[in-house]
Amino acid sequence: MAHVGLVGIGVMGREFALNLAEQGHTVSLLDRNIEKSREVVTAGSALDGELIACADAETFVAGMAAPRSVLVLVPSGAPLDAVIESLTPLLDPGDLIADLGNSHFKETERRVRACEAAGLQFLGMGISGGAEGARNGPSIMAGGSKDSWAQVKDPLQDAAAKFEGTPCCDWFGPGGAGHFIKMLHNGIEYADMQMIAEAYGIMRDGWGMDAAAIGDVFAGWMDGPLNSYLVEVAAEVTHASDPVTQKPMLDMILDRAGQKGTGRWSVIEALHLGAPASMMQAAVEARNISADLDGRRDGAMLFGAAPTGGLEEREEGLKQLESAMIAAKICAYTQGFEVLRRASDAFDWSLDLAAIARVWRAGCIIRSVLLDDISDAFDEDATRKLSHAPKFSALLDENAGSLKTVVMQSVGAALETPALYAALSYHNASRTQHSTANMIQALRDRFGAHRFERVDAHGEQVNGPWHDPERYA
Ligand code: 6PG
Repeated sequence: MAHVGLVGIGVMGREFALNLAEQGHTVSLLDRNIEKSREVVTAGSALDGELIACADAETFVAGMAAPRSVLVLVPSGAPLDAVIESLTPLLDPGDLIADLGNSHFKETERRVRACEAAGLQFLGMGISGGAEGARNGPSIMAGGSKDSWAQVKDPLQDAAAKFEGTPCCDWFGPGGAGHFIKMLHNGIEYADMQMIAEAYGIMRDGWGMDAAAIGDVFAGWMDGPLNSYLVEVAAEVTHASDPVTQKPMLDMILDRAGQKGTGRWSVIEALHLGAPASMMQAAVEARNISADLDGRRDGAMLFGAAPTGGLEEREEGLKQLESAMIAAKICAYTQGFEVLRRASDAFDWSLDLAAIARVWRAGCIIRSVLLDDISDAFDEDATRKLSHAPKFSALLDENAGSLKTVVMQSVGAALETPALYAALSYHNASRTQHSTANMIQALRDRFGAHRFERVDAHGEQVNGPWHDPERYA
């Protein structure tokens, strides 16, 4: 009898079922279309574990030994709620439902409460790595009912990606903690991708490089601190040719970016928490602007292309670009982990930032060589900002000058680099001891009598002379 069941045999469900079976687990399968489950049973017939196709929810539940763990891989929202509703009356107290989709963490909190009220356990689990990861080892970020984690941990850790033998799969906190972490993973993914797209634009439009040469630059970055899955696949897609026209594949792809929403959610939550997330925001806005094809076309007709001076000194410039990307990446990761820290405090999750970095070291889309050092930095001191950890402050300091040069030259050449600019601005603002917020405070007090703190009287809130001319005369 199976202890694990999987509902939803789409691309991800299929691959994850095969992965579990490869690890020797017996898995019951349920989908509205039983043919899909049967196809997986056939595809996995040579694997160590057993896959069982079930015709309906009753057979599915009856064929599993309690305590049952039901992994659900259906689209978030109404389809997921429908699955939970149909399974709830059939399951026994202590059984577990786990949502492996990209659900909003607030929705996960609601589902945890509803399931617990019905005597069931609920886990919200972010899984990253796409279909390839689901089959060969994804990164898994779980949150929700803690008691149920021990019940499902072993099969999930078996199926997860491994970094030097350690599974990239953990439980991080109650309620929506797991899905919040996955959401933020995607926010960082957006920033990483936007930086790569900006670097591509600098090379394509600033130096007029062809796709093959740009792909070679990305491939070369794999030898340094930028070594990451996204840079690796950037080299791959840049080198690829269109089988129909034989042109570079990238030249045949419409420049209109899609988005399912997790990047936008990350920015919205960061704003709610008061945590800077300007690089993710730049990435979301760049996608939004790219989506307005008609508006951009009309703008080009009305104003013409922005005047460009082009870029010079390519050899030196390419070195600076790699260096700028390193600085910007440290800023993006610093912002991402600070959002997680704020969320942990606000929602009382006690998130372990080092452990989060550890599960991102393999399997997920943002995996990169830097993540092992990031986990070490938080192991050393979890209260310290990432960019202030010695290894990262040194790397940021060494590369921040190039970030400034690349941004300045890009502005001069009319090349759009909003994420790189956001990184530079964040780094500069974060090291400004005397900012201009005193003017904001003065204006707030002048028109709204909101009061301010004096530099020579800590803690005391006072009004300015514009409210009490005698006192300040
Ligand atoms: C992952 C990916 C995955 C998915 C994104 C794409 O970690 O495996 O992030 O979750 O590819 O949802 O998001 P957009 O469609 O918003 O780019």
